[in-house]
Amino acid sequence: MYNYKELGLVNTKEMFEKAYYGGYTVPAFNFISIEQMNAIIDAVIETKSPVILLASPNLHRQLGHEMTARVVQAGVDRIKNAGLELPVVLHLDHGMSFEHCVTAVENGFSSIMIDGSALPFEENIALTKKTVEYAHAHDVTVEAELGILSGAEEDGAEGHRESMYTDPGMAEEFIQRSGADSLAISIGTCHGLVKMKPNPDGTLPELRFDILKHIQKNVPGFPIVLHGASNISPEYVKMINQHGGHIEQTVGIPDDQIRKAAKTAVCKVNIATDGWICALANTRRILDENPAAIDSRVFTLKTRPEMKELYLHKIDIMGSAGKA
Ligand code: 13P
Repeated sequence: MYNYKELGLVNTKEMFEKAYYGGYTVPAFNFISIEQMNAIIDAVIETKSPVILLASPNLHRQLGHEMTARVVQAGVDRIKNAGLELPVVLHLDHGMSFEHCVTAVENGFSSIMIDGSALPFEENIALTKKTVEYAHAHDVTVEAELGILSGAEEDGAEGHRESMYTDPGMAEEFIQRSGADSLAISIGTCHGLVKMKPNPDGTLPELRFDILKHIQKNVPGFPIVLHGASNISPEYVKMINQHGGHIEQTVGIPDDQIRKAAKTAVCKVNIATDGWICALANTRRILDENPAAIDSRVFTLKTRPEMKELYLHKIDIMGSAGKA
């Protein structure tokens, strides 16, 4: 059993308070390799940004919680060795059961998500409440979810076909009764590659800022989370397709809508897919350019600076540079 404080991590409490009243949002990045985690750390060192490292259920299957936490601990050490003190959270993304959350806390995670969004309202409250009681006893913060985002959280995960926007009245009741520290809501973002459908005139629809405003008015000071916020840059899709891949160009969440959300009650914005496609596009390109390579470092070393550029851009649109 590890305590996250021994690993140099913090929970989201103070981080979200500063973001809420400071008019910015904290970037939350999924990672699936050491190079990706290092690229995130490179970007936060350069910008002096707080950060949330997201570990998904698939990462648990790949590395296990114990190794994930140790790798992150090494990342925190890199920050300290650079002479900086930046708040870093290790967050369980989409914890699907109470037991899953317990294992994460026991291995040093400082924040967890219990995702009861597919359950009926009362069952979601009960599961969240039980998780909150356990987590708070360990000074770990809890994110819950109400409403449904369409799309799969990651490759191989079972996704939802339709989204169901969060009902502001239910959100208020959920927050009060569950005791969660933050709430992921559904206002039009989606997990994965398939996101926005352009209007018939070619313009893009706006996220449902009216729902967000309503919740912010009803529960002032309470941190809101947006999942499914990747932009799906045509640059990466084109590179993947030019180098042997075959994926469809879709329309992601425009940067200006994330900039707008960052100034509201939204204190955490999750980005996974943009990181995946940046790494994969550059890996395909580098392998094509180096057909005689026999060592995977030919791409692992060279994709890191490309991913760093992506994370620097995300930190810029979320406004978190210099906010550590
Ligand atoms: P994207 O698929 O838009 O990157 O969203 C990731 C996410 O919300 C992880 O929880």
